[in-house]
Amino acid sequence: MVEHTIRSLLREGVILLRESGCPSYILDAELILCHILDMKRIDIIKYRDRVLGEEEAVDFFRLVEERKKGKPIQYITGCQEFMGIDFCVRENVLIPRPDTEILVEKTLELLKGKEKLRIADVCTGSGAIAVSLAYYIPHAYVYAADISEDALECCRRNIERHQLGRRMKLLRGDLLEPLFEEGLEGKLDALVSNPPYISKKDMDSLPTGVRCFEPHLALYGGREGMDFYIRILKDADKLLKKGGLLAFEIGYDQGRALKKIIQDHGIYKDVRIEKDLAGLDRIVYCYLEE
Ligand SMILES: C[S@@+](CC[C@H](N)C(=O)[O-])C[C@H]1O[C@@H](n2cnc3c(N)ncnc32)[C@H](O)[C@@H]1O
Repeated sequence: MVEHTIRSLLREGVILLRESGCPSYILDAELILCHILDMKRIDIIKYRDRVLGEEEAVDFFRLVEERKKGKPIQYITGCQEFMGIDFCVRENVLIPRPDTEILVEKTLELLKGKEKLRIADVCTGSGAIAVSLAYYIPHAYVYAADISEDALECCRRNIERHQLGRRMKLLRGDLLEPLFEEGLEGKLDALVSNPPYISKKDMDSLPTGVRCFEPHLALYGGREGMDFYIRILKDADKLLKKGGLLAFEIGYDQGRALKKIIQDHGIYKDVRIEKDLAGLDRIVYCYLEE
């Protein structure tokens, strides 16, 4: 029988992933092994000569095969870091993106110094935005809403993981509906959302890992990608307090169109577009008139 060590498995995993065209083949082989052995990356470097069992080797090659087929590494390891916090992720739930940190950072900045906040994150997915806001604003109460049971289950795990259950509530339903059912009319200091916003034409050019493995429900935003913004804007004013903050993540080419839609409502002020680190439009925010 072949004896496997951390070093030998890594070497074989790296070769298999490199040959399959996986761009981050070294890191991914290491992350898969860390996941199987429940070890930190530094430890698999320190203990390269540790002998591994047959079962661990079989599991390793099974997961390497999944990665070779394009499954995102986060669905294999079940985790993703976001805003410096560890998040559980699972299939059928969108993997939190670094791009979305801009929306959280801006929201934190805009809400700074305000007391006793009530915030809602609509289309919450894993809870990346909602959990981060609750984590970084200790006096906030945060509602996390989504239509997908898988998303809410994942979000529930993230709330528990960070012990935020006393300041967060999960709501299931279509966009703003569960917020109305919860009796939140006129009570929100802020409503944030990263809804599905990929247009019909852009759906076809998504990278394979996204198109084949991430949920369509989390991506497709209608023909122009604007459907969810339009639907949220229809009733968001009824949930917000006067002067309340409304903030959206957007696609790189949606800023001007969304700004105009918001301005046409005639009830929001200070409509702003902010760019991400790549210089692309990434968020739009505004305030409900006083
Ligand atoms: C782009 S993902 C965002 C997930 C998360 N907020 C993030 O930033 O990582 C969009 C989310 O919208 C949810 N969604 C799609 N249609 C919805 C609807 N009609 N009502 C509520 N949530 C919906 C999906 O389940 C998905 O979790």
